[in-house]
Amino acid sequence: MIKAAAGSNIAIIGCGAMGEALIAGIVSGGGVAPDSIFASDSLAERSEVIRKQYGVRTGTDNVMAATSADVVVLAVKPSRINDVLAEVQVAITGSTLVISVAAGITIGQLAEGLPAGAKIIRVMPNMPALVREGMSVLVLGPGLSDRDLEVAQGIFCAVGKTLVVEEQMIDAVTGVSGSGPAYVLLLIEALADGGVRMGLPRDIALTLATQTVRGTAHLQQQTGEHPARLKDRITSPGGTTIAGLHVLEKGGFRGMVSAAVERATKRAVELRSE
Ligand SMILES: NC(=O)c1ccc[n+]([C@@H]2O[C@H](COP(=O)([O-])OP(=O)(O)OC[C@H]3O[C@@H](n4cnc5c(N)ncnc54)[C@H](OP(=O)(O)O)[C@@H]3O)[C@@H](O)[C@H]2O)c1
Repeated sequence: MIKAAAGSNIAIIGCGAMGEALIAGIVSGGGVAPDSIFASDSLAERSEVIRKQYGVRTGTDNVMAATSADVVVLAVKPSRINDVLAEVQVAITGSTLVISVAAGITIGQLAEGLPAGAKIIRVMPNMPALVREGMSVLVLGPGLSDRDLEVAQGIFCAVGKTLVVEEQMIDAVTGVSGSGPAYVLLLIEALADGGVRMGLPRDIALTLATQTVRGTAHLQQQTGEHPARLKDRITSPGGTTIAGLHVLEKGGFRGMVSAAVERATKRAVELRSE
């Protein structure tokens, strides 16, 4: 899939956690030559680390990075987006595809900082992108071609799975896949703590908890079966699993997870007006 982006010059503005994950994914995907990527970061030392690690071109000049790029990926914090747009807009032409991963920044806000008619895609990635197991959800701005979508999907497929949604869904997406890794990490920690409480050494408990979450997710994804059906298969009458599940149901586990998604979704809306 990354091959869809082959032949494109890609500028990555901001080489922090997400910028680096994208560079690493694109380079290891093999379809895009490292010297087709120009990564820019405000910190010269950071650019240098990225250049040595991935063999891409780097620098601290965002305009230079964007000038010869077909695709400009904005991977700075949301609070820096306006400054970066003001800076790079001179380098954006009608054929440049601008992709922003900044949480909460809408297509409309991005368009305000770019020349009229600019091609824009907003993406909500998540933390597992750092190990190429991310979930990146794309929102398409107006006037994009099929080729633009292919190129964007090519880039984000290099760090996991992609999905396209309407912008009105993106706050709920943030509540599920954006914030979701933190909920799952809490579950892993709680499972391990339970093991420690029952006498297991911490390292063994954590290994069991992590592999159980990873393996179960993999099983559900590979079989495509509804989670409830898989759960029923390992829940024997009068057994250990149903005894544990009873405690979770009594404690309102499902309602609590669902309420967490609702609260995170509403928080995404609140953040936009703050
Ligand atoms: N990390 C995630 O899991 C995740 C998930 C979803 C969405 N995102 C989105 O991804 C974006 C980047 O997040 P991150 O976690 O990668 O942040 P980060 O680690 O802080 O990376 C941002 C990088 O951009 C640099 N930078 C700041 N201002 C710049 C400028 N004007 N020009 C060029 N570079 C500049 C920063 O340098 P300094 O440190 O020197 O300022 C830093 O190296 C955010 O908008 C965030 O909403 C991240």
